[in-house]
Amino acid sequence: MNKVADIYILGIESSCDDTSISVCRNNEVLSNITASQKIHSKYGGVVPELASRAHQENIVPVYDEALKEAGVTLEQINAIAYTHGPGLLGSLLVGCSFAKSLSIASKKPLLAINHMEAHILAHTAKNNPDGNPTYPYLNLTVSGGHTQLVKVKSATEFELIGESIDDAAGEAFDKGAKTLGLPYPGGPHIDKTAKKGDPLKYTFPIPKIGEYEFSFSGIKTSLLYFLQKESKKNENFITENLEDICASYQHGIVSALLKKVEYTADKLMLDNICVSGGVSANSYLNESLRKLGVKKGWNVFIPPLSLCTDNGAMIALAGYQKYLCNSFSTIDAAPKSRWKPGVSL
Ligand code: KG4
Ligand code: ZN
Repeated sequence: MNKVADIYILGIESSCDDTSISVCRNNEVLSNITASQKIHSKYGGVVPELASRAHQENIVPVYDEALKEAGVTLEQINAIAYTHGPGLLGSLLVGCSFAKSLSIASKKPLLAINHMEAHILAHTAKNNPDGNPTYPYLNLTVSGGHTQLVKVKSATEFELIGESIDDAAGEAFDKGAKTLGLPYPGGPHIDKTAKKGDPLKYTFPIPKIGEYEFSFSGIKTSLLYFLQKESKKNENFITENLEDICASYQHGIVSALLKKVEYTADKLMLDNICVSGGVSANSYLNESLRKLGVKKGWNVFIPPLSLCTDNGAMIALAGYQKYLCNSFSTIDAAPKSRWKPGVSL
């Protein structure tokens, strides 16, 4: 019997502040190299102009390293996948132009990838600790720019069920952290600090909102008012209670996320429950989701850390799925700053 030929996909991610390039052989990650931009931490958030400049500096060395680590040459690559949106336009343009140049020079086909679909398709990677979910599944995508509940019907069919009407969960972490004087990006700092705190010490309420929607702008304001009030009574309130504040604030965000996951899973009768995106690296979210999964009888899937935050491998994995459907894109497609999952190019 003839062996089916392996497919090598190059994945290029540059939608925000990480320049990341990966080579995948089918659904196996051979390399996943990321240059994170430290420059933004002193501004307390991503500065778009600086981000696109840093992508320009990083993209060639990251590309060289990704091929080298995979032990693959450009000649062996079958197709070039790149993030076409959503994201910061100046950042997207760098990855998109690089992908198009490579495609022209090497005569390899292009695959324009939706970043939010790619976060979801991180679940298709070979050797993920939780294995690969079967379709259909419910995916909670939680990143710095988006919070979405998506019914994933197949590797190419996505139905957006609901999303945040204002801030994303990652933004709530980052803005809350900034208020507490923690460095950017604040999500990992809150996660770490919260480990020693009491999640039930303070209450940060989440507003009641439409059936499948989220809202996170209120919680950061309630944190701000709470800190202003307490700091008037004790000017050292934040430093003396930082662990409990972080744990309670994190508890508020995670409870809001899981409440909607549970409601949606029940309503849509789905029991394969997945989480992805940068906030899926959060240890309290992971623990709480696994506990809830046991109670509900769900199969829970959490990607490995390297596939949670922005990375080139998820772009290559999404590219592999598009390659299998011959869903190639053309050189004239311009990147999109907004692009919902499930909507065609
Ligand atoms: O998916 P991602 O890398 O980029 C976007 O597409 O936005 O997500 C970045 C977000 C940031 O808001 C960051 O603070 C958050 O993911 N994040 C975390 C953790 N690690 C990253 N939030 C909470 N806990 C973490 N451990
Ligand atoms: Zn992302």
